[in-house]
Amino acid sequence: VALQDNRHYPADADPLRGFPRVRLGFFPTPLQGLPNLGRLLGHDRLYIKRDDLTGLSLGGNKTRSLEFLLGDAIARGADVVIAAGGLQSNLCSLTAAACAKVGLKCVLAHNDLPPQALQGNMLLSRIFGAEPVFLGRRTEEERAQAVQEIAADLHKEGRRPYVIENGASTPLGALGYTSAAYELHKQCRGLGISLKHVVIAGAMGGTASGFVFGTALLGHPFHVHVISVEYPAIELRKRMLGLIEGMERLTGLTPGRPAPDCPAASPLTHMVAPEDVMTIYDDYLGGGYAVPTPESLRMVHDLPRLEGIFVENVYAAKTLAGLAGLIWRGIIPSSEPACFIHTGGMAALFAQFSN
Ligand SMILES: Cc1ncc(COP(=O)(O)O)c(C=O)c1O
Repeated sequence: VALQDNRHYPADADPLRGFPRVRLGFFPTPLQGLPNLGRLLGHDRLYIKRDDLTGLSLGGNKTRSLEFLLGDAIARGADVVIAAGGLQSNLCSLTAAACAKVGLKCVLAHNDLPPQALQGNMLLSRIFGAEPVFLGRRTEEERAQAVQEIAADLHKEGRRPYVIENGASTPLGALGYTSAAYELHKQCRGLGISLKHVVIAGAMGGTASGFVFGTALLGHPFHVHVISVEYPAIELRKRMLGLIEGMERLTGLTPGRPAPDCPAASPLTHMVAPEDVMTIYDDYLGGGYAVPTPESLRMVHDLPRLEGIFVENVYAAKTLAGLAGLIWRGIIPSSEPACFIHTGGMAALFAQFSN
């Protein structure tokens, strides 16, 4: 659905009105101070955006993406949704929860062997009534191919399947975080916080690129520091710019490039290109995806013990370690308000430690 008016998208507007969307969570998510962690890191004005409390299942970032993706699925008349991921995929269990809520069947394709025990996200998906398919060990490409085959089989059975591709890191799924950028900006204005820095995780890049797109549309009110937890920065950048291009096509909104008929004084003259509002760091990736670093392991304990908030290892703890690093390096000065986006993933925590 292309938006009609691509000339004005100020902070009070909803640039995504017109997209089919189902309400799955509670928004806005809370914005809180982190005074104790701030003291530890030597930062005076540290905040946390609690997207671990999005309200569906045990919360997390993918709730926002699913609002758009399931909105699309329903608009297209789907009766079954297929998502894919590892056994502890946060997306999979949130898709199972969302499908349960809106009355759609959910099939989850896992590129792994059946688990020995039901733990974490696997346990939740089972409770939500999703049907698991265990593909055995497969690459991302092989898994995507298998998902298409599952969809084709369902189609032959007379079902109307809807596939969630790329871990919801598609232009449509990413729009969930475009609206999150607007939401955070509005919250900060309401609370009188002149936020300067946002720190967010980047794996497949949907979450961060949606946020960057929204921040660019808003005219760069804060800088977005993306902590890569999966790919080298160059690869994440490529993925993010591809997603942002897709979002531009989908919405008809192009930050940084005024529409030809745009009057010189319109808000568009303040718009900046998405590339200018973000910096991507792969310095905190350590041994790679899901391999903890000493700093991320520390955060798994520091944040709960200082603030009463959990973080799991794969995404949030590494991103938080990135935030700490950026403060220590002076990239985020101690007096400039900074916000960590907590993307959740809580269920996975219960499968990450065995003692
Ligand atoms: C808890 C959590 N945080 C962050 C991310 C990163 O999101 P993206 O793949 O959109 O970069 C994910 C992705 O699965 C996630 O589950």
